[in-house]
Amino acid sequence: MPDIVFVHPDGREEGFEAPDGVSLMQAATSYGIDGIVAECGGSGICATCHVYVDPAWADRLPPPEPHERDMLEVTAAVRRPTSRLSCQIRLDRQLQGLRVEIPDRQY
Ligand code: FES
Repeated sequence: MPDIVFVHPDGREEGFEAPDGVSLMQAATSYGIDGIVAECGGSGICATCHVYVDPAWADRLPPPEPHERDMLEVTAAVRRPTSRLSCQIRLDRQLQGLRVEIPDRQY
């Protein structure tokens, strides 16, 4: 049950305990985090679940698969080195304390 923290574009932080085994996107939408749209429901084809992973965490995640890398080319907000699709990040206890920033737009 990792605790995860979302940082909104205005600097506001929202943290909560997420269940193991769900994606970061599923945890965010279940908790009602604004700014994670997830239009495709997690199929990896919309890029509206874009997040910026805190640099301290970026190397602790498995690298993006090729299809995720392709979709990161078409994010609405500027892409950063730690950009990821939150639907492709699977939560487990290794990610206790994960911090991600929400981009200023998803469209
Ligand atoms: S929810 Fe569509 S790409 Fe992640």
